[in-house]
Amino acid sequence: MNCFGVKFRVTTFGESHGNAIGCIIDGVPSGLEIDESYIQNEVDKRKPGLTKFATQRKESDKTQILSGVFNGLSTGVPIALVIFNENQKSNDYENIKSLFRPSHADFTYFKKYTIRDYRGGGRSSARETAARVAAGAIAKKLLEKFNIYVKSGVFAIGGIEAENLDFEYANTSEIFALDKTKEDQQKEAILRVKKLGDSIGGCVFVKVANAPAGLGEPLYNKLDAALAAALMGINGVKAVEIGEGVNVSRLRGSQNNDQMDENSFLSNHAGGILGGISTGEDINLKVHFKPTPSIFLEQQTQNEQNESVKFNLKGRHDPCIAIRGSIVANAMVSLVLADMLLLNASSTLENLQKIYGK
Ligand SMILES: Cc1cc2nc3c(=O)[nH]c(=O)nc-3n(C[C@H](O)[C@H](O)[C@H](O)COP(=O)(O)O)c2cc1C
Repeated sequence: MNCFGVKFRVTTFGESHGNAIGCIIDGVPSGLEIDESYIQNEVDKRKPGLTKFATQRKESDKTQILSGVFNGLSTGVPIALVIFNENQKSNDYENIKSLFRPSHADFTYFKKYTIRDYRGGGRSSARETAARVAAGAIAKKLLEKFNIYVKSGVFAIGGIEAENLDFEYANTSEIFALDKTKEDQQKEAILRVKKLGDSIGGCVFVKVANAPAGLGEPLYNKLDAALAAALMGINGVKAVEIGEGVNVSRLRGSQNNDQMDENSFLSNHAGGILGGISTGEDINLKVHFKPTPSIFLEQQTQNEQNESVKFNLKGRHDPCIAIRGSIVANAMVSLVLADMLLLNASSTLENLQKIYGK
């Protein structure tokens, strides 16, 4: 299961300390402008080593287009993108090569495959998500053609929540903070745990603006289910909320219903999705990231010989994965929306007749 999407279909490859990571994107319509610098700009937002709030692994993450683009336009054939790994420090992982980091995927990959690339977490590392962001950039280009914009930012760090959502500001913030007035407290919370050798969880907000009503495939590829699956597929995501989210279980129908007048909905508790199909209102999502598993405090674990061992970790890790995770969440939502847009082209006879000029 290294493929994602039905019509806008992405297959990623690569490991944290292998030669390269990358992806093949199938289903991109021909004639879409594919600008290498636009893709690079998106990939750079997720790049490690940029600030003290991210891992210090230094990667240029230079993204190369290998196929599927001619004279700046997609040709309709698979687009292959590759990013070469440059700054692997595999020795950092020597002392943990036969033991399982608590809360990481080391244990489960070993149980499933009985062999694992322990260097930097191998394929389970979030290094793979750079390829998703590169693919997501092409999805965003397609969405922009229809004035659909996917915006994102960090909503909360360790329970310190934004009160205003300023997506423009988030683009300029070192931690992609949505609320300037909470940013310093959020930064301090990260630096405090980092100093202790610990890590911290966070919540990301994603908003899709201008999605038309009618996107989503009932019953087994509902828009809300597809978005939740895509977001839960990001390393470290433990919960996704749509619209009112977990709060719905505390509300009455009269509080949660979105009433309508002749023009529009009068509220948006639904988060822009009803019956698995977009309503035309903003799609609002909250994505909850756990604290980074790799911490620098002494911990107890098990090794491959079933012995209990104490260990201290070396290496470079994000103190808070929600920060770079916000860029990955944006990419995954863009990929789902692009897929739904293509799928919807054949939803009515009228649409088909338009396509074939009948
Ligand atoms: C952008 C991003 C960066 C991450 N960086 C790290 C890291 O530096 N160290 C680490 O242990 N986990 C990191 N993770 C999380 C792990 O990859 C993830 O927790 C692990 O694969 C186990 O999967 P699970 O948490 O989904 O169960 C990162 C996740 C994301 C999305």
